[in-house]
Amino acid sequence: MAIERTLSIIKPDATARNLTGKINAKFEDAGLRIVAQKRIQLTPAQAGKFYEVHASRPFYGELCEFMASAPVVVQVLEGEGAIAKNREVMGATNPADAAPGTIRAEFAQSVGENSVHGSDAPETAAVEIAYFFSGLELVG
Ligand code: CMP
Repeated sequence: MAIERTLSIIKPDATARNLTGKINAKFEDAGLRIVAQKRIQLTPAQAGKFYEVHASRPFYGELCEFMASAPVVVQVLEGEGAIAKNREVMGATNPADAAPGTIRAEFAQSVGENSVHGSDAPETAAVEIAYFFSGLELVG
């Protein structure tokens, strides 16, 4: 399988509960390398641009406010099949459906406050990585 990169976000509910290290350990234990990482405070507008594909969904406003409610850690994960592997490690979007041992099963509080985001395909990964990082910041 090819080496891929994927965009990951550790969300406000997780940074607020000091879970960054525990979540990063899950990624590293699964063989994903953190090749870029920074802690930032998004504005609602910046979160809105990132999640613009969901603009027509009823939860969009709530999602943008939540993502701007506390710092997030944005990161690039690299590894064989990194996009699918990260989604496996995260678990289902709704923590009620997430498999045991996944990040969302262990840490997420609700479908909205679900601790992590991960890109869903190679095309979205490229766009999402470029939204937060320049090429010089990716150190594999
Ligand atoms: P994420 O993987 O970051 O992609 C879009 C996000 O929208 C998703 O995780 C959830 O946090 C959020 N989301 C999806 N469905 C709902 C919902 N029904 N109510 C609130 N937030 C949602």
